Amino acid sequence: MMLSTIAAASTVSASDGVEVNHLGVNNTIVRINGDGKYLMLPVQESNDDARIVVLVDGNIDRTVNVRLAKSKVDYFVPLDLTSYNGHDVLLNVITTQNRSNIREAKDDACWKNLSLTDTFDISNREKYRPAYHHTPLYGWMNDPNGMFYKDGVWHLYYQWNPYGSKWQNMTWGHSSSTDLVNWNHHPAAIEANGLGAVFSGSSVVDTENTAGFGKNAVVALYTSADLSQIQSIAHSVDHGHTFEIYPGNPVITLESEARDPNMFWDTANNRWVLSLAHALDHEMLFFTSPDLKNWTLQSAFGKGKGAQDGVWECPDLFKLKVDGTDEEKWVLVCNINPGGPFGGSATQYFVGDFDGTTFKADTDADGNIPTKWMDYGKDHYATVSWSGAPDNRRTLIGWMSNWQYAAEVPTLQYRSANTLPREAGLFKNADGQIYMSSAPSPELVNIRDKEIVKVNNKSAGRKKRVFSLPVSNDGVCEILLDLDCRRADSVDIRIANNADESVTLRYNSSDHTLSFDRRHSGIVDFSQDFPAVTVAPTFENDKKISLRIFIDKSSMEVFGNNGKFVMTNLVFPTMPYSTLSISATGGSAKIENLKIYSIKEL
Ligand code: FRU
Repeated sequence: MMLSTIAAASTVSASDGVEVNHLGVNNTIVRINGDGKYLMLPVQESNDDARIVVLVDGNIDRTVNVRLAKSKVDYFVPLDLTSYNGHDVLLNVITTQNRSNIREAKDDACWKNLSLTDTFDISNREKYRPAYHHTPLYGWMNDPNGMFYKDGVWHLYYQWNPYGSKWQNMTWGHSSSTDLVNWNHHPAAIEANGLGAVFSGSSVVDTENTAGFGKNAVVALYTSADLSQIQSIAHSVDHGHTFEIYPGNPVITLESEARDPNMFWDTANNRWVLSLAHALDHEMLFFTSPDLKNWTLQSAFGKGKGAQDGVWECPDLFKLKVDGTDEEKWVLVCNINPGGPFGGSATQYFVGDFDGTTFKADTDADGNIPTKWMDYGKDHYATVSWSGAPDNRRTLIGWMSNWQYAAEVPTLQYRSANTLPREAGLFKNADGQIYMSSAPSPELVNIRDKEIVKVNNKSAGRKKRVFSLPVSNDGVCEILLDLDCRRADSVDIRIANNADESVTLRYNSSDHTLSFDRRHSGIVDFSQDFPAVTVAPTFENDKKISLRIFIDKSSMEVFGNNGKFVMTNLVFPTMPYSTLSISATGGSAKIENLKIYSIKEL
């Protein structure tokens, strides 16, 4: 005879207005009975994701994955209930942990810590949150994408997880700015639907109403990602704040992984052009369209070319003038992960020609296509440009992290910042090749506060010259340094704090390189891939270098020779860096100019 034991589902009240019913070892139902704008979800970073299906009046409204707390609560994330006001809300929660009985499941820290509230505190609780870089208010961020400029406003979207500080639940977070340094934060602009999560893409202002959504509608094209990756469009008639997803989606399907569509209006051929990363095939595909809805595949570029070690992601294609000439060339930006010059993710690019359907890269004297990097640091990825920037500018921004350790960096309330915005240019180098420069956007001079150090024509030899960094605002600053290194073998620029943590930038005269050593920069042990020395060619042979160094609590961006080379690296000093010292070996170096600026409170 079979005996069965049937127990009634047990009901407990988590807090006022939240009723929790455990149905089994991995299934719990949470009913919202009370009032409150947000249901606060307790998160434990190290736990596995629970799947939360949100039912409104019995219909599935959304499904989100949240690392619901098991043994301790690291932080809370809000589930916004405002649009459900007056409706029945039930969460069907499926957890994944192995459990022997339901009692264990009931003990999870999350259930007793669920609560309803009308406020969610987003004031900064992080010592490493940058002061003048873009960061999300809370939650995880990767790729900046979908950026467009319209009516004096720079719109920035980003891959955002509003339900935790690790990658998940991709939506388009949205910020905007009129000066590229002060950012306003807006509600998520595009959220997942039945076709999948919202991966990276691009937006354009459709001035001629080619898509039929209205003159000047903003049209976004992005990857809907679930089991497969397909391309979808959405449009906005309120300057990119809210988007309506196109019912005819998907607009592009392929049989293999393809993502991150990036489009522009091709004035020569009067149609839209789109680059799409054919990720695992290590190539970019080019499509054209008259109306943003119907796309025709024209060509592919990349197989066997440039760095091939990782998947190809986040393309961008644009035309620039070569400095000092009337020559125009096309740049194909191609982010790769892994396979960067110092491990993990990085941004390579190709310079060449594009005739409206096909991209052809320049070759060197031996007929090979050289690999070129946009940034020689470890923390520069998914970089793409703004569509429609004013004054013919090509303004770019990247994600200031690396997929190797982005989820492990010592922050919790938010994870990841974007780089400073940069202006792209092209220059011809002594090797005959054309390279892309990326200099700090001109708006950045407006954040300088006081000139706290100003020095001219001082020499630095074995005995180091020491200068103070600002003490205000955790030492955030900009350093301008022109060095003549002709008599020295090597010159060290050391940025240090009182805990003996430091970054050493070393100019090496013999090969004209600048290295960035962050092995002793502060907290480095959260990942074996973090301690590193990165090296950049300086693209000058006269042993003079001109640097602009931006320090912002947990990052250092070094722009050399007006953006001819850049190194972006994260650093996590336990206390702010407070000194800059310069010394040289082999002979002395001349500090032609040194200026240190503190930064205004933004
Ligand atoms: C690049 C990337 C993109 C993708 C997005 C998902 O960092 O992998 O290819 O669209 O992140 O968040």
